[in-house]
Amino acid sequence: MPNVRRTLVRAGADLPIDADEGATLLEVIRKELGVRSASLGCRDGSCGACRVLVDGELVPSCRVRWNDVKDRATLETYEDLERDAAATRATEAFASERPTRCKLCVGALGVTAVALARAGESGDAEAIEGVLTNATCMCTGRGSWRRALKG
Ligand code: FES
Ligand code: FES
Repeated sequence: MPNVRRTLVRAGADLPIDADEGATLLEVIRKELGVRSASLGCRDGSCGACRVLVDGELVPSCRVRWNDVKDRATLETYEDLERDAAATRATEAFASERPTRCKLCVGALGVTAVALARAGESGDAEAIEGVLTNATCMCTGRGSWRRALKG
């Protein structure tokens, strides 16, 4: 498939990228930007391991075609957010409960915690259930994410 150019805005910088129009956003950000915090898990949109924030919204990047990415969309990954207090709180709580697991989901958990905090919904049980739709820790299940997000 042909390449298409999109510019992502990350940490205030414009990042023009040419990539196969049929590639996924996950593939592009891992290959072109070196993102490692968003991971390929289920491939079908159900695990959330590939979550990033696009224009502030939680997005399963494995399900977004590069061609469908809006030009000049703002991208935030866990690498950009790991010093955020909400991300730190959630990922440290998760790590203290499950220190020996694969950690594939940690970046997604972190960006999810930031999204909740920005919406003023940290610790809100209903909001947490909402963000747990199509997201889970594949090693330990939703319970560990739920507890980490409750803080
Ligand atoms: S890998 Fe994207 S939702 Fe599971
Ligand atoms: S997917 Fe392995 S620790 Fe969550």
